[in-house]
Amino acid sequence: MLESGQSIPSSGPDREKLREKGQFWTPPWVAEAMVGYLLAGGHKSIFDPAIGAGAFFNAAKSLMAEGASRIKLLGTELDPKALKQARQNGLSDEDLAAVEIRDFISDPPEGPFEAIVANPPYIRHHRLAAHTKSFLKSYGARLIGSALDGRAGLHVYFLLRALELLADDGRLAFIVPADTCEGIFARTLWRWISANYRLDAVVTFSPEASPFPTVDTNPIILMLAKRPPGREFLCAMCEEAETPELKVWTLSGFQTISGNALSPRRRLVSEAVSTGLSRAPGNGTGDGPTLSAFATIMRGIATGANDFFHLTRARAEELAIPQEFLLPAVARTRDVPGHELTEQTLDELEAAGRPTLLFSPDGRPLDRFPGAVQRYLRYGEDAGLPDRVLLSTRRPWYKMEVRPVPPILFAYLGRRNVRFIRNLARAVPLTGFLCVYPRRNEAQFVGKLFEVLSHSSTIANLAVVGKSYGGGAIKVEPRALERLPLAADLIQRAKLAPPSEQDQLTLPWGR
Ligand SMILES: C[S@@+](CC[C@H](N)C(=O)[O-])C[C@H]1O[C@@H](n2cnc3c(N)ncnc32)[C@H](O)[C@@H]1O
Repeated sequence: MLESGQSIPSSGPDREKLREKGQFWTPPWVAEAMVGYLLAGGHKSIFDPAIGAGAFFNAAKSLMAEGASRIKLLGTELDPKALKQARQNGLSDEDLAAVEIRDFISDPPEGPFEAIVANPPYIRHHRLAAHTKSFLKSYGARLIGSALDGRAGLHVYFLLRALELLADDGRLAFIVPADTCEGIFARTLWRWISANYRLDAVVTFSPEASPFPTVDTNPIILMLAKRPPGREFLCAMCEEAETPELKVWTLSGFQTISGNALSPRRRLVSEAVSTGLSRAPGNGTGDGPTLSAFATIMRGIATGANDFFHLTRARAEELAIPQEFLLPAVARTRDVPGHELTEQTLDELEAAGRPTLLFSPDGRPLDRFPGAVQRYLRYGEDAGLPDRVLLSTRRPWYKMEVRPVPPILFAYLGRRNVRFIRNLARAVPLTGFLCVYPRRNEAQFVGKLFEVLSHSSTIANLAVVGKSYGGGAIKVEPRALERLPLAADLIQRAKLAPPSEQDQLTLPWGR
């Protein structure tokens, strides 16, 4: 396990173990600022439901050493080994005397608590056991009146449990991944929170100032009070790592700004809840229709085994696979560097030894394929492909997903390179891309739509619908991309008319 401030391994089994337990420690400059918010409320005890190596207890001790009055330290932690680490980090038996080893979610302490601070375990939903997921779901439904979508991770339920245990007038500071405000469940969650608690402030971080630079997550600090909800809250982006300014600001009750690392602004709670608290307020360029008026979106083809189905030309020739079972296909966004995918791009990929052909068998019985295809499929069976996760759900295992050729692709995950790509090579994309199917087929309409989509203001709006990760990376899912707002003046200038129902009946992709 790691000490506070120590760097986190970027790959390998250590990082895997940390992922399972959700053990990423909060650095002191952030922990002190979060505890500072609680102390500014006049509270004399803090409760940390997931104390780990003790970052917040140590922060409270530092603030006491700097003159804050005595603070009682309370907490829970699931993993006794983490407390050993807390001791190594300078916490004494006395500091840890009121820490209980227990599961904060399924076996919570009695409460209520006047001040709660946490960096809850960040365990995404797909890493949770099925029985844990169903327990969390029914707990959430009981508390807020409707179940949250199953994609809410453990950290979301930590927040709910903590809010439930917060005393009247109490304060809570949580550092959580931005998906807490951007995930599909976020609206339901935030409608309940903003109707029952007062949101005082939210802090986001520029990529350079991330408290967890080696973890692929975009963290956000939430500061909430159990008081009547307000209309506005303060929203600040921290632009400098290690800055003492953050702590000065929270300890002063948000009165003192001591430098240039923070520029807090007031923001309407209602606007922020509908935009997503972690996203900047809408900048007015998305005042037209959404992309769904002009196109539908689907994810690229999931082969279930790219190493078997995505072939180089040389490999396809060696296997003697007939042309009718091969389609031009691209897998990785970095294989298409620019805004156009052409025959030349495919030739260059081949020259670099990259696969460009999708082996795409249909669902006929194996012995009805030509001999070469039969041989290759049998080779796949011997190699255990039918047991691979996705392929084991297909009938037969080799029946490939089918996509019409999309005229526009979208590279949906990236830092600076989320972008639309004109597909002039008539290739099908694998899951590294989304397929954009315009609602009209004529080249002119597709060209104009592409022009609107490539505009910098459209690209900027991706932040409104995407989910943010570490280092400024953003990921946009198919349904979210359909909600991408487009600027009315851009559409007007491009003379892009919304298609009629009649137009859509004749589309080659059948919608
Ligand atoms: C992200 S770490 C945060 C530790 C520390 N507060 C900090 O910020 O550095 C989360 C901690 O939660 C603990 N944890 C995970 N599930 C828990 C549960 N159900 N109840 C209590 N603690 C839990 C993990 O063992 C881990 O130490």
